[in-house]
Amino acid sequence: MTGWKPHPGTMDWGMQDRMARLFPGGKSVMLAVDHGYFLGPLSKLEQPAKTIAPLLPHADAIALTRGVLRTSMPAGSGKGVILRVSGGVSVLQEDLSDETLATGIDEAVRLNASAVAMSVFVGAPHEHQSIANLAKLVDEAEPRGLPVLGITAVGKELDKRDARYLALASRICAEFGARMVKTYHCPDFAKVVDSCPVPIVVAGGPKLTTEQDVFDLVANAMAAGAAGVDMGRNIWQHEQPVAMIRAVRGIVHEGLSAKEASQRFHELAGKR
Ligand code: R5P
Repeated sequence: MTGWKPHPGTMDWGMQDRMARLFPGGKSVMLAVDHGYFLGPLSKLEQPAKTIAPLLPHADAIALTRGVLRTSMPAGSGKGVILRVSGGVSVLQEDLSDETLATGIDEAVRLNASAVAMSVFVGAPHEHQSIANLAKLVDEAEPRGLPVLGITAVGKELDKRDARYLALASRICAEFGARMVKTYHCPDFAKVVDSCPVPIVVAGGPKLTTEQDVFDLVANAMAAGAAGVDMGRNIWQHEQPVAMIRAVRGIVHEGLSAKEASQRFHELAGKR
């Protein structure tokens, strides 16, 4: 599905309002800072408050855990909060799919979340548990008007990120009631978008070599029908994170090409 549009017949007002906050104008720049839930203090995210502060004004929403929300996110920002509620395994384990529902739905409501997010490990050793967790979360979130973001997680198997696998995993998330899906960009990405009936946002993955690689990824994803990005490392691990998020925002919300985004990046970074 391309972008997000209100569906009065299928969404209560509260659900629509939360989705509209996440997708102003139908598109979204989500800032992902939830990595610590299994990776610990990643480089450039050692002190989340310092990472978040300069980037938040340029994001529509922020994706994080309750621990980072409470300690590192200012209240009253008006930004959407996408609360990660799955977890339970650290990067020290080989199989990362043994996740549980780690934050309750009442806690999500109390924290004024705009959405709850859960990793879904299709094809992994704990596939059944993971999909059952998603089904339970949707059952709990929907009556409260909270949209669920399904995340197609690949654990350490980054080479799983092809269109066939990601279309399968994204579609399963949507079939179980996720209102939106976060997945990776890949060749033939339009196949993933076209077979998923809810909006898709793309993650950036590990830091790419150049900023041009990032702009190409985002522009290609948007051209293929993505509704935006839910991006972390390629923004805040860059030496010019504010210029990065503003250039990415230009692609998502203004329809800049990758080349135009690069020009904007260099103007903002003062590199020209
Ligand atoms: C993984 O920890 C999370 O799902 C991230 O939010 C997701 O991978 C997006 O972050 P990045 O752009 O760094 O991949």
